[in-house]
Amino acid sequence: MEWFEEWFDSKYYHILYKNRNDEEAKSFIDYLVTEIDLKKEAKVLDLACGKGRHSQYLSTLGYHVKGVDLSKNSIEEAKKLKGEHLSFEVQDMRNSFAENEFDLVANLFTSFGYFDSLSENLTVLRNIENMMTEDGCFVIDFMNVEKVIRTLKADGDIDIDGVNFKITRRIEQGNIIKDIHINDKGEKFHFQEKVQALTIDNFKELINKTDLIIDKFYGDYKLSNFDADVSDRLIIVGSKW
Ligand SMILES: C[S@@+](CC[C@H](N)C(=O)[O-])C[C@H]1O[C@@H](n2cnc3c(N)ncnc32)[C@H](O)[C@@H]1O
Repeated sequence: MEWFEEWFDSKYYHILYKNRNDEEAKSFIDYLVTEIDLKKEAKVLDLACGKGRHSQYLSTLGYHVKGVDLSKNSIEEAKKLKGEHLSFEVQDMRNSFAENEFDLVANLFTSFGYFDSLSENLTVLRNIENMMTEDGCFVIDFMNVEKVIRTLKADGDIDIDGVNFKITRRIEQGNIIKDIHINDKGEKFHFQEKVQALTIDNFKELINKTDLIIDKFYGDYKLSNFDADVSDRLIIVGSKW
């Protein structure tokens, strides 16, 4: 099993990240829909939606939202959310499951660069392109790896709900690797996160190989300009040729 199939679907992932910031997610969506001027009732695909925090908020703004994720547990949780024109299903972003359908395809909070080969990134981008309407728009919200690498904190140790998480981070062969050692009342588990350290140039190169175009890069959830030295995020907004 691949790391991302195992880790994101485990109960420990949900314990470790249970306090994910919903307010920040909502505020980001407010900035985003204003910036791209997303029309009322637009169709939105939240690609790798997790438990659906962005999807739900988008639906409260009147958009027609589909959230998809590979993790069955996350989708089960997401389905408990109530909203008009809001649906969730299990899907793999390596497959295209719609055609010319979405006015916005959003891939949020570092849900990219998980696969072993770079060519799978290209598959995901081509699927995004295929699922967008002709005048649709895409957003990829990734970390600013240049800053992440510069400020990498090697170790962490945290107790949540009686579970101990020991986390070590390193850069190896172009990947940012996080090892997570878990001690749950004496029972031990190990998971790993492995995300390709994709820079702005890597994204430009990848996107150039598709029929997508980059409209703008942003550097945080308030959509400030991207600056590799200081930005926390690398947020790419684009459209189709
Ligand atoms: C860092 S989380 C972000 C989740 C969500 N966007 C959020 O902001 O809370 C990454 C998500 O990508 C999903 N994922 C990983 N590989 C996937 C794939 N091949 N297809 C669809 N989703 C995938 C994981 O299950 C996980 O929910």
